Amino acid sequence: MQISENVMQIQRSFASLKRILELTELPTEDDTYTGTKIPVFEQEIKFENVWFAYKEGEWVLKDISFTIPKGKKIALVGPSGSGKTTTVSLLCGFYPVEKGRILIDGVPLSEMDFREWRKKIGLILQDVYLFPGSILENVRVYNDQISEDKVQKAISIVQLDDFIKKLPEGINAELAERGQNVSQGEKQLISFARALAFEAEIIIMDEATASIDPQTEAKIQRSMENLLSGKTALVVAHRLTSVLDADEILYFSDGRITARGKHNELLQTSPEYQKLVELQMLKVQDE
Ligand SMILES: Nc1ncnc2c1ncn2[C@@H]1O[C@H](COP(=O)(O)OP(=O)(O)OP(=O)(O)O)[C@@H](O)[C@H]1O
Ligand SMILES: [Mg+2]
Repeated sequence: MQISENVMQIQRSFASLKRILELTELPTEDDTYTGTKIPVFEQEIKFENVWFAYKEGEWVLKDISFTIPKGKKIALVGPSGSGKTTTVSLLCGFYPVEKGRILIDGVPLSEMDFREWRKKIGLILQDVYLFPGSILENVRVYNDQISEDKVQKAISIVQLDDFIKKLPEGINAELAERGQNVSQGEKQLISFARALAFEAEIIIMDEATASIDPQTEAKIQRSMENLLSGKTALVVAHRLTSVLDADEILYFSDGRITARGKHNELLQTSPEYQKLVELQMLKVQDE
């Protein structure tokens, strides 16, 4: 049991590291289905009747359509297994769309050079991956073109100054294996700093479900505002403030979008949304 859990953890870590590397300029080998067009994103990202299955015939996303205008924030909510993370993964180009299209300013994502596309994206996963190494390197992922000064600025913007000041070695302090010597909340903030340092135009975030203490929660709230300011964002939301801030909320149920609108509209029109907010988000807020 213990061993299989460890193996699963290791596999998950490698998958996450691979994604981090894919999102930076380091080469990876599995871009076999990548296109060649240089992505231009001035207007909108559009999911147009997108269908997707991990296993043939077992549709996980069924006819998903929505638009993210540049500079807007879209929140995805819904029960576990409804397809939120899958939607986010498709936008990163981790899997090819089976039916329908994802369009960036009208050009199919499948025709894009994925490496160029991913340079625009700051991906913040549910399970933040930190590797053994300094905080500095965890933020810039060994990309020397990102100066220490820039990392320091990103650290300040995400409200990690106090945390860093307490460490004798500052941003050069080493993180233990899997970041065991930092809290869940601090890990999240380090991953925000990473997205800032890489100057991502599009922030894709799968919010962590784990509850954190109210003080760190308040910090995350402020940091998120700083991180998302002026950016285009797709956020799988588990926090109430994330849905309150969203320009549009999409409610996922069994691979379909069954309700959409702003928070107040959905509270009026969608009993399932109402229930989700009461059960899930308010509970998280209280903890
Ligand atoms: N890599 C995978 N291979 C096969 N099936 C998968 C894979 N990832 C997810 N699934 C399945 O696809 C469906 C949608 O999963 P997804 O992770 O998108 O849900 P979610 O809405 O993000 O759920 P949660 O709120 O629990 O994170 C689920 O039935 C899940 O079991
Ligand atoms: Mg998920």
